[in-house]
Amino acid sequence: MWYDTLVCNCVQTTFLGVCNMENENQKKVILSGIQPSGELTLGSYLGAIKNWVKLSDEYECYYMLADLHSITVRQNPADLRRRTLTQIAAYIACGLDPEKNTIFIQSHVPAHAELGWVLDCYTMFGELSRMTQFKDKSAKNADNINAGLFTYPALMAADILLYQADLVPVGEDQKQHVELTRNLAERFNNRYGDTFVIPEPLVSKVGAKIYSLQDPTKKMSKSEENPKGTIDLLDEPAVARKKIMSAVTDSLGIIQYDPEHQPGVSNLLTILSSLNGESIESIVERYKGKGYGDFKKEVGAAVFDFLSELQAKYKEILSSGMVEQVITEGNEKARRSAHKKLMKVKKKVG
Ligand code: TYM
Repeated sequence: MWYDTLVCNCVQTTFLGVCNMENENQKKVILSGIQPSGELTLGSYLGAIKNWVKLSDEYECYYMLADLHSITVRQNPADLRRRTLTQIAAYIACGLDPEKNTIFIQSHVPAHAELGWVLDCYTMFGELSRMTQFKDKSAKNADNINAGLFTYPALMAADILLYQADLVPVGEDQKQHVELTRNLAERFNNRYGDTFVIPEPLVSKVGAKIYSLQDPTKKMSKSEENPKGTIDLLDEPAVARKKIMSAVTDSLGIIQYDPEHQPGVSNLLTILSSLNGESIESIVERYKGKGYGDFKKEVGAAVFDFLSELQAKYKEILSSGMVEQVITEGNEKARRSAHKKLMKVKKKVG
């Protein structure tokens, strides 16, 4: 199994939440999203999108572009508009088939903001104060600690609960928000009767957290200031290879998976294993007695090949004009589905 957490909801829902009645005898539901707050990175791909692709056949999948979330930090409007289209093209280039998945834009489905408000009223100040991401982001944006940044996990809960999602595939850093979503759903169900399905986070075993190439103790992030630490999916492949070659390692000279003492080497092992499908143990075995130079060359080549193939597809998709149609159809389907749940919630709260 490539993931840690896949707990069937059937047993749990008996006690905690609704059985997915609208989806009874149907496929289980998946929902996830990414903020268009910067170019997609290798971290977003390996931690999230790569896993989304694997789920398409087995589940009913909703994948959104979380643009409402991204305005919690100041964005350049023109860049945000451009990225809204290019990120959807990137989703498809990464392998998300629009025939099998509902791909949509969060702000085009008004039910998200509406349910987000309702859930704000059931989320406690103390709970939101404990969110690690809020603490990190408010430290980074000390001049703009706005209310949206604070209440963002309740909006994320609305994203998930509107679609009756059973599973939420995310990287390690988003797990805490899914846990909060579970608490909110249970709280609401206890007060008003079965309304929401209780979702489970789905976190991959390898690649759940890809670290900065320049500071391998920090997450590789869209908003990292040092571009050498991050690989964007749209980086020139040769530039990306160079970034791998100059990735920070250590002076031990041994290739082994030891995130505590060798975070840089361990990060590169994770990247290679996620890209070529070989286990970390097997890579370590191959590099016994060898130096970092050859190892980095192989990681660099894997990244180069991956980006070259992805970008060729991406350009084709953008020039085909299919993105607009995918968005129109996805938004429509998402709106229909979300509206039903929102009406139920409104009725329940009076
Ligand atoms: P965001 O946009 O920060 O990240 C999107 C997804 O990519 C994963 N990820 C990573 N995984 C491994 N290593 C990394 N370096 C790395 N960087 C990012 C994240 O864990 C995430 O899965 N609030 C969310 C977006 C969101 C959402 C949702 C997700 C909004 N509503 C509902 C799931 C369900 C966010 O900011 O992710």
